[in-house]
Formats: sequence, C-alpha cells, structure tokens
Amino acid sequence: MSSTSSTVLRADRIWLDGKFMKWDEGNVHIMTHALHYGLGVFEGIRAYKTKDGRLAVFRLKEHIRRFYDSAHIVLLKLPYSEDEFAEACLELLRQQKNLFSEGAYLRPIAFMGDGAMGLGAVNPTRVAITAWDWGAYLGEKGLRDGIRAKVSSFTRMHVNVNMVRGKITGQYVNSILAKREAVLAGYDEAIMLDISGFVAEASGENVFAVGRSDTVRTPSLSSPILAGITRDSVIRLLRDMGREVQEVSFTRDALYIASELFFTGTAAEVTPVREVDNRQVGAGKVGPITRELQEKFFRVVRGHEPKYAEWLTYI
Ligand SMILES: Cc1ncc(COP(=O)(O)O)c(C=O)c1O
Repeated sequence: MSSTSSTVLRADRIWLDGKFMKWDEGNVHIMTHALHYGLGVFEGIRAYKTKDGRLAVFRLKEHIRRFYDSAHIVLLKLPYSEDEFAEACLELLRQQKNLFSEGAYLRPIAFMGDGAMGLGAVNPTRVAITAWDWGAYLGEKGLRDGIRAKVSSFTRMHVNVNMVRGKITGQYVNSILAKREAVLAGYDEAIMLDISGFVAEASGENVFAVGRSDTVRTPSLSSPILAGITRDSVIRLLRDMGREVQEVSFTRDALYIASELFFTGTAAEVTPVREVDNRQVGAGKVGPITRELQEKFFRVVRGHEPKYAEWLTYI
C-alpha cells in the first residue's frame, strides 16, 4: 500500500557519497553543517509503472539539471557529473525493483557536510539519493475529489531573499510554517502570496486557476515560485489540448471566483482544489478541464502517450 505524507518511510537501499548501502547505514554526523544552517539542495522525482510493467522516471534529465542549478546557486560543489548522478538514481531503483514495482519517489539531496562550523565554513559536499514508495501527497481522496486550501498568513519571500530558481533545503521552513498553519486550521494545503499580495504558489506545489472564459492562468516565472517541472509539463499538455495558458500575476480573489483550481507538483501530481478560504471554487467539485488534464497527465507518465515519450527514462 502507498504511504501518505505522515507515514514513516523506509526502503532497503540508499546511495550516499558514491556508494550503495543498506537504508539503516545512511547516517551523517550531528555536526553536519547543513543541519545547523540549512545549506542543502534537493529534488523530488517520481517513477511510474508504465503500461508494459516497466518503471520509468518522469523528466529525469530536467530534475537532475535543476539539482545541479540549485547547487550552483548556493555554491555547493557536486563531485559527480550529471550523467553519473542520473545513472545512480536509476541504479537505486533497479536494485529495489521488487519494492517499487508500482512506482517510487526519488529524493536526491546534497548538503554541506561536517568539519568546520560557522557561516563562512566550506566543508565537503555530501550527496545522497533515497527512494521510497510515496502515494498521493495530498491523499487519494484529495487527488480524486479535490482539497481545501487556505491563503497563508506567511508570505512567499522576495526573490532576493529566497533563491527561487533553486530547490534549497533551508528555504522550506517558510513552506513548513505555511503548511502547518493550514493543517492546524483544518485545511489540506496553504497558498502563499508574494510580498505585493499576488498569488505565488502552494507550500510545495504550483497553482493554476481556470477563469470564466476557460483560460488557464498560472503565476509567471518572474514571481517567487519554484519553476516546477510538473508546471512546465502541464502547460505543454494544456496547450496541446487546445487550451490557452497565460503566465501572469493574479490576486487571491481571482482564486475565489475561478471556475476551477488545481495544484501541480511531483509529489502532488495534478491535485484539484475545491475550496479556498471557505469559498467554494466553481461547482465545488473537480471541474472538466482539471479532470481531462489529470487523465492526460497520468496517461503520459504511465507511457500511454507516445507523443511525450521523451519525458520518460525507463530504468
Ligand atoms: C515550493 C514548490 N513549488 C512547486 C513545486 C512543484 O515543482 P515540481 O513540479 O518540479 O515538483 C514544488 C515541488 O517540488 C515545491 O516544493
């Protein structure tokens, strides 16, 4: 059975600093610099069981590229080439083929290791890859029927505070504060605004809103959002489906009056949003554009759509 975001996760094997080892051996020292100051970068990548039973990683190349970009942004040196690293990701899945016959979530991470302390320290970079079975991030019911979201009281940080082109570990405290506030208030997810009050993104997903004319809007990459790889995929799919997609700024009340709303992310995939701040979105159930897109997305990741075959790397 797939695990939810609150389940304790484990698998058999991990990769740490160039070596495969047992899951329980993947430890680092308490003096790890990144644990104290948050200097690390990571990725979230999904592999899906495809129509012929083989596992395929979705957009591996783009995730590895973003991982290396993230490391470059925060001056972490990675001692492996992108190809070597991609191969390690695939090999980790191959070694646990039986465990991941239905799919897997891959988590590459690189961080400043132990040695010196203090903010000016430059210690060797540690690099790891783990993988586990992670079901629907916002729950199976959320994926099917839609979730309830709350606009956060926490602001998405300015682009000169957060390095938004990077997926940087320390930056996720902002997301965690927003997520926990939303969950403690009884919602499933938080939507964050930027410092000017425009919609940015959810705590771990990009946001899409369908307007009354069926135009789909999502904040542009000039706003403080992660350049989601699912976001990019979904924009292409929607346009190929004949929909107009605009990358523009919009305000929180545009969420309230949207006819459909959905989140995209590697973990959350395409998750419908049926309510924001206690206002029903559209008909309060999954709308036709979201449903069609969701179906298309799952067909693509499971290898049913040859047009998008270049997005899949079979293990
Ligand atoms: C803050 C944030 N925004 C958006 C996303 C979606 O990005 P992607 O589709 O590349 O997973 C994620 C997840 O990685 C995220 O953490």
